Amino acid sequence: MQKIRVGYPAILDVEAKTALPHEVELVALADGLDHEVAVDVWIPDPYQTRARRIWPHLRGVRLVLSLMAGTEWIPATVGPHITICNAHGAHNISTAEWTLSAILTLLKHFPLFLDIQRAANWRGRKEASAEYQRLSGDTRPYHPDVMMEELTGKTVLLVGYGAIGQEIERMLAPFHVDLMRMARSARAAPLVHPVSALDELLPRAEVVILILPLTEESHGLIASAQFALMQQGALLVNAARGAIVQTDALVEALNQGKVRAALDVTDPEPLPPEHPLWRCPNLLITPHVAASSPQFAARAFKVAADELRRYMCGEALHNAVQLAT
Ligand SMILES: NC(=O)c1ccc[n+]([C@@H]2O[C@H](COP(=O)([O-])OP(=O)(O)OC[C@H]3O[C@@H](n4cnc5c(N)ncnc54)[C@H](OP(=O)(O)O)[C@@H]3O)[C@@H](O)[C@H]2O)c1
Repeated sequence: MQKIRVGYPAILDVEAKTALPHEVELVALADGLDHEVAVDVWIPDPYQTRARRIWPHLRGVRLVLSLMAGTEWIPATVGPHITICNAHGAHNISTAEWTLSAILTLLKHFPLFLDIQRAANWRGRKEASAEYQRLSGDTRPYHPDVMMEELTGKTVLLVGYGAIGQEIERMLAPFHVDLMRMARSARAAPLVHPVSALDELLPRAEVVILILPLTEESHGLIASAQFALMQQGALLVNAARGAIVQTDALVEALNQGKVRAALDVTDPEPLPPEHPLWRCPNLLITPHVAASSPQFAARAFKVAADELRRYMCGEALHNAVQLAT
């Protein structure tokens, strides 16, 4: 019997791919591939641009096993006749850790403290009080000054309550936040609000976390009207996809000092050097790195390998985001 041929990015960790079933024939796909290659299963490079360069050279692909959780670019690239699976669950820890770190970084005004550290300026610390007052509108006199804020007890709106959203909830637990969960559809125990309640819940949230897929429905979900509904100084955290937030509206809300934000993802990506977002106040940007850790490849290959075994045994797939028509 002919072995199933699995094309994988040649650059990826050799050990990680040992998780794949031994019965398959592995085909290393190097960046710069310039000839046709027949494979049954394609594991695309995690970097979309590199993956897109490979795709035109592949023949016979029936199954795409993405190493990523977000696969929004793949259906349009490969068409409807190929089954596509994501690496559901592989990025929970890394992305949830990024989310927690980003929230604490901004609530503790670390970007400002890093600036004053680099300027060897101990006295500059009081700028944190001014920053807190500007953002929160709380001008009551405090002694000592407010130089950091607390996450504990804050009201947090979690938009997206899937694999990563639930990991974020677990990591938020020690902070005893008042958590409002939101997903596409409502459910009870635990209480999950439907996305139709977004505008109703936004005014209550001090921190808004976006961790949902980019789809037609979620595109531009956070626009001017939503920023207007947010609390003064609310923190928007986008660990999902840039286009879920309307960038112009975000730039305006940041420049007005209405909100602060932590973004791992932007629209566009990469963000060009001249883009106004780079120069907005109260903003932390990381260049789409939240899921990248030394554990990435091994975890993602394990998810892909399990799905491949199910595919080879004719069992129902767990992570299909598109079934071949
Ligand atoms: N920054 C990064 O590096 C990074 C890393 C990993 C993932 N991500 C992004 O994070 C997304 C979520 O990953 P995941 O593994 O947690 O996905 P998941 O397990 O599929 O969960 C997605 C959640 O989003 C909800 N949802 C879907 N469409 C929605 C909408 N229009 N409005 C409100 N909620 C909606 C779903 O609602 P239901 O439960 O009702 O279906 C579900 O709760 C991925 O799609 C990816 O784009 C980013």
